[in-house]
Amino acid sequence: MKHLTEEDLAGLFDTPIFRAIGEVADQLGLHCYAVGGYVRDLFLDRPSKDIDCVVVDPRCSTSADSQLSTPTEGPGIRVAKALGKRLGKGAHVSVFRNFGTAQVKWKDQEVEFVGARRESYSRDSRKPIVEDGSLEDDMDRRDFTINALAYCLTSEGLVDGKRLIDRFGGLWDMEDGLIATPLDPDITFSDDPLRMLRCIRFATQLRFQIEDETQEALNRNAERIKIISQERIIDELNKIMLAQHPSIGFDYLQRSGILQIIMPELSALDIVEERNGRAHKNNFYHTLEVLENVASPLAPLRGEGSKESLPPRGEVEGGLWLRWAALLHDIGKPRSKRWEEKVGWTFHNHNYIGQKMVAPIFRRMKLPLDERLTYVEKLVGLHMRPIAIADDVVTDSAVRRLLFEAGEDIDDLMLLCEADITSKNMQKKQRFLDNFQLVREKLADLQARDNYRTWQNPITGEEIMETFGLKPCRQIGILKQVVKDAIWDSVIPNDHDAARQFMLQKAAEMGLKKVDS
Ligand code: CTP
Repeated sequence: MKHLTEEDLAGLFDTPIFRAIGEVADQLGLHCYAVGGYVRDLFLDRPSKDIDCVVVDPRCSTSADSQLSTPTEGPGIRVAKALGKRLGKGAHVSVFRNFGTAQVKWKDQEVEFVGARRESYSRDSRKPIVEDGSLEDDMDRRDFTINALAYCLTSEGLVDGKRLIDRFGGLWDMEDGLIATPLDPDITFSDDPLRMLRCIRFATQLRFQIEDETQEALNRNAERIKIISQERIIDELNKIMLAQHPSIGFDYLQRSGILQIIMPELSALDIVEERNGRAHKNNFYHTLEVLENVASPLAPLRGEGSKESLPPRGEVEGGLWLRWAALLHDIGKPRSKRWEEKVGWTFHNHNYIGQKMVAPIFRRMKLPLDERLTYVEKLVGLHMRPIAIADDVVTDSAVRRLLFEAGEDIDDLMLLCEADITSKNMQKKQRFLDNFQLVREKLADLQARDNYRTWQNPITGEEIMETFGLKPCRQIGILKQVVKDAIWDSVIPNDHDAARQFMLQKAAEMGLKKVDS
């Protein structure tokens, strides 16, 4: 955390936009404060462009005086309009009368204005009943102490002679790295259960601890998450996903009981079963390790042979989809788990079972159903393949097949698979990594040699039908497959003449006769 003196803060707020806000609000006889995330992020040294301002009308600002607002005349809207005029042509003002808010866009900055408000909630909705209120009321309704900071921009409206208003010790909590609610956490979370996810998201992004009472309230209120829309849930989950250490968030989600409600399939991985003294690993914590490995900028497991210049495809949106693939890679394990007397616990085909589970999860969670889903499905389905290859003698044909199936996602698949080696047995880990290195070398070699990413069978179905006077039938598929196998297993070269010769020979063995051309 950055230690900022009164002078430092005065300097940070001495910019054209803040000076203009202060001046117009002064002229209107209103008190205006920068609040929330903008003020917090100055202390955390995080870049923050969007500014939230709360405006108080001192003539009716005490709770006792408060009346139902007349939105058209709200003090926030009045300041925004005056600011728009002051800034002139370059400024764009949008007024949201129903909410009593207004936004001013100027250069690359966005400032949101709202009148100070008091909120009260009913049990079954996160839509509060809103009334005009004082600055204190406004700070009381905020989610966390670190977000309940305000900085006075006007010449009047200071509290105890101070511009920085920190009603709940938000600065102390920032210093201690704590997320805590200003009021009773049960009320804060029950009023707006989305705040439970925000709590975990801030703890993850800032690497803060959740204060004990707040943590206990998370557990008690977990069920309330059910009233939150899926869109908002996924928005917060993706922010957790994109944090430097996303596993912190998923650990909190699991321990609070929220994960069980929003993603029961993932929560179900958190189990260790033991039989005859044989236990399987906890696949939830293994998954979190894999997620951390793919999220690591150092990618410690990334082999020497990897193409550092090529960002993985999941890199779009900061690697979000590669992270989703990591999170879901073992999702099929609980459904495939068996106990076999001779070998112990097995998870046969968990990758294929998992692959099938991805689409329903994406649909339910309102994640995109386009090529991003296909990408995650593919990685989940194929994530055992490089390990299987690396465990054995690494043959050309196995690597070719892998390349063909993974296509342009081969680099991400290799990253995921290396990230999947979380064994604590260093010898075993090294053996896998060495073999992966071999797979990578072969991949690079094959890509250069015959570009299997975009491989196409030189023999088409039409050619087979014409040659033998066939209508669409099973034999065509069989012939195409034997040609494909022969090329991939290096029995014949990857060219049309050789492939045709081979196809004619196999067709003759199947009893097919050429038609006269
Ligand atoms: N806030 C709240 N409860 C919410 C959402 C927001 O109390 N469910 C308050 C907080 O004081 C917050 C402010 O509204 O600081 C602005 O909200 P928002 O812009 O969503 O969050 P930021 O704190 O700015 O952080 P981020 O942009 O990272 O979401």
